[in-house]
Amino acid sequence: MSNVSIADKIIILDFGSQYTQLIARRIREAGVYSEIHPCTITCADLQALGPTGLVLSGGPASVCDPDSPGLDQDILKLGLPILGICYGMQYLARKLGGTVTPATDREYGRVQLSLSGDSLLWKGIQTDASSQAWMSHGDKVLLVPPGFTITGCTDQVEVAAMANPHKKIYGLQFHPEVSHTEEGTRIIRNFLFEIVQARADWSMASFVDDLMIQLPELIKDQQVVCGLSGGIDSTVVSALLHKAIGKQLHCIFVDNGLLRKDEGKEVVQYLQDHFDLNLHFVQARETFLSRLQGVEDPEEKRKIIGNTFIEVFEQEAAKIPGVAFLAQGTLYPDVIESISFKGPSAVIKSHHNVGGLPEKMKLKLVEPLRELFKDEVRKVAVELGMPDFLVWRHPFPGPGLAIRIIGEVTPKRLDILQRADKIVHSELMATGWYYKVWQGFAVLLPLKTVGVMGDERTYEPVVALRIVDSKDAMTADWSRLPGEVLAGISNRIINEVKGVNRVVFDISSKPPSTIEWE
Ligand code: XMP
Repeated sequence: MSNVSIADKIIILDFGSQYTQLIARRIREAGVYSEIHPCTITCADLQALGPTGLVLSGGPASVCDPDSPGLDQDILKLGLPILGICYGMQYLARKLGGTVTPATDREYGRVQLSLSGDSLLWKGIQTDASSQAWMSHGDKVLLVPPGFTITGCTDQVEVAAMANPHKKIYGLQFHPEVSHTEEGTRIIRNFLFEIVQARADWSMASFVDDLMIQLPELIKDQQVVCGLSGGIDSTVVSALLHKAIGKQLHCIFVDNGLLRKDEGKEVVQYLQDHFDLNLHFVQARETFLSRLQGVEDPEEKRKIIGNTFIEVFEQEAAKIPGVAFLAQGTLYPDVIESISFKGPSAVIKSHHNVGGLPEKMKLKLVEPLRELFKDEVRKVAVELGMPDFLVWRHPFPGPGLAIRIIGEVTPKRLDILQRADKIVHSELMATGWYYKVWQGFAVLLPLKTVGVMGDERTYEPVVALRIVDSKDAMTADWSRLPGEVLAGISNRIINEVKGVNRVVFDISSKPPSTIEWE
């Protein structure tokens, strides 16, 4: 799909820094649209994007290394305002005639930064007092290029910032995008509003307005099919498409029998009540459960569930005449992952979600959330008037409860877990903790222990509680819930769920553990 239509666009040229996404998010938080592109982009392709300012990211390489990444030479001649961060600044320094010395040691962590000069980047910042900044570098700039002045230093680096106001080119050795840099937000805002003089017209309301024009133009009178899972991404995709093309959208909800108790019904009910959707509900519990019979290996479970989903979805979609598009909830981090500049230290993340659907179905893709970060998707959901229970729904894995039942998935074990999990959910809601934690759920273990109920000895399975705090699921830590909240959950599970006589709380962090048990 075409790009969003906004007045000003900042392009971040990525040299492979772990903070590149953060730069994009900070710029968008300031209300200016930004996109990340690899540093290898040609000048012509860059111009076609229509940037009004450029940011050069940091990166793991050394500019002193002859094989280090660089830009198409013509990009620096475009006359665009440029902010170079860390590697980006060192690259500018070297290219424009300054010198960079190779690292003798690394500087990493918080430093005291002294700013100087009347750089527009420092507008509104007290330059006579030092402030804290975040550094992560080896090499440093020794001599600034002709036309530049030094505008900041630390105890360890003489050139912590440099500026050429005439050419609107600025460099920072530290990372303004990292929250530990006290004046970081102001510096980024100054680059945007004082130097680029960008307009802050990026808002979720304008994003939705644009889509309402673009989606009908793209889809015309054709039909679109969309898999609805109950998660925030597919729910927002469906709501947006419904708003744009109405009944040309066909949502397929596959009940694989592995959902949380009542979860599917709630979402479907909400969407039907509010959007009058064309909803195709497929009850496929029996198919999924029969194929999972006797399977204990987690990856095997994932494979079976993924393949069965594709099969069931395809069969249902084939019943709808004239389908030309498949709508998907792809987000910007997935896009960045596939286009970003991969330096030697790049980590390839494994993807969880079901793949293979578009290739097999030969449909054109429509991905209305391609440009958005997760927090922006939530803002769109709010913009569309969705209630908190949908906007702040905990992430739920595609293979569902199958990967929370350790060992074989049987109807009986599924029923036990669904009932225990429902209690975790309702207690977290009742105590106000649901919206404070990232994810909270129950896991059924393939392990029986001895208990005593009344006068009787019992020998029954254990349920583990997994409740974690996280920002993006890449790292996580167990939530420090008050004892009475845990006691409430435990008492209710043991009293109300027949077949469970012990509840334990998982106190492992990620890494080295994962959030899910399988
Ligand atoms: P882990 O267990 O890897 O989970 O720490 C990180 C996040 O991903 C979710 N998750 C999955 N999501 N299919 C999914 O769609 C999967 O197979 C899957 N496995 C884990 C997990 O719930 C957490 O939010």
